[in-house]
Amino acid sequence: MKPLLQALRGEALARPPIWLMRQAGRYLPEYRALRASVPTFIDLCFTPELAVEVTLQPVRRFGMDGAILFADILLVPHALGQTVSFVSGEGPRLEPIRDAAALAQLSDARLAEILAPVMETVKGVRAALPPGVALIGFAGAPWTVATYMIEGRGKTDYENCRRMMWSEPKLFAALLDRLVDATASYLIAQADAGAEVLKLFDSWAGAVPAPLFELAVIAPTARIVKAVKARHPGIPIIGLPRAAGSHVARYAAETGLDAVGIDHMTDLAAAAAALPAGVVAQGNLDPMLLLIGGAAMEAQALRIMDAMTSTPFIFNLGHGVLQHTPPEHVARLVDIVKHR
Ligand code: CP3
Repeated sequence: MKPLLQALRGEALARPPIWLMRQAGRYLPEYRALRASVPTFIDLCFTPELAVEVTLQPVRRFGMDGAILFADILLVPHALGQTVSFVSGEGPRLEPIRDAAALAQLSDARLAEILAPVMETVKGVRAALPPGVALIGFAGAPWTVATYMIEGRGKTDYENCRRMMWSEPKLFAALLDRLVDATASYLIAQADAGAEVLKLFDSWAGAVPAPLFELAVIAPTARIVKAVKARHPGIPIIGLPRAAGSHVARYAAETGLDAVGIDHMTDLAAAAAALPAGVVAQGNLDPMLLLIGGAAMEAQALRIMDAMTSTPFIFNLGHGVLQHTPPEHVARLVDIVKHR
């Protein structure tokens, strides 16, 4: 069986499987070359031949145990009819949704049709994957996707989101409901097409006011897990409640997820020990150490492995690979994890 799938079933392996969040992308010269051949990032995501190739680039170069589908969490708002663009150097821009009229403009009527090329990518990757490598499909979790939909951009203080959550709870709940349904059907389609693992990125879980964490993060995630497992009972699902601190154990206990990504701000061994039996930990090297490389990275990677021996565990970063990371550092990290 593939090592990543073994670990997700709760087996402690001789060495942990490794893959990295954002392992494909701009830090790889072969990605930059391919990216230059299409006008927009969305075109790249929706051109299966190219998206298959980009998915496979880090797998080929580094020998990762997991291949993460090349796509983006903002394809779902795009497929719901929101205007989404990626401005180079500035990140995503969306036409913000802040009232009932704007929400009413969204429609899931064409969701499957618009996202169909992603399923072709899933099929293509699955057919081309080296033996032993598992294909990870993904989506953004409703809260994190909603932050982009409401703010219209990333890297904010979430003021419009928090205003809506507190002052217009029905509107906020309606937006989350739309996202739960769309995300569940998108993930089910990925599993139908051949994804072997699914991941829900809740990158901005740490921005939720504590009294609303259950409503904004736990409940929508639990609903998606339930819907996906009703169709694909055996498929492992990983969640990443990034920067969620004190909420992580409850998130793991109440969502039905199989594995939880631990960020680099959190003590990995302590967080793993607080997970319910059967929930696997993944993490948590600081992406900055991967960028810096050298002795500091090596020492920390070994500390992580030593802390997690004899526990089912997946080696990863605490968040995505940074844009200016030298690829040689990634090669060195994989070598350490595979061969120590
Ligand atoms: O290798 C992989 O991980 C697979 C592909 C992948 C991308 N985005 C490609 C991408 C995945 C899994 C994502 C997830 C994603 N997208 C998240 C969750 C993970 C995280 O990092 O927290 C989020 C929040 C997004 C939203 C997003 N997409 C942002 C904020 C940006 C711009 C800033 C940035 O980091 O690049 C994107 C664009 C994006 N998504 C790029 C890539 C390779 C760069 C676009 C380009 O090449 O021009």
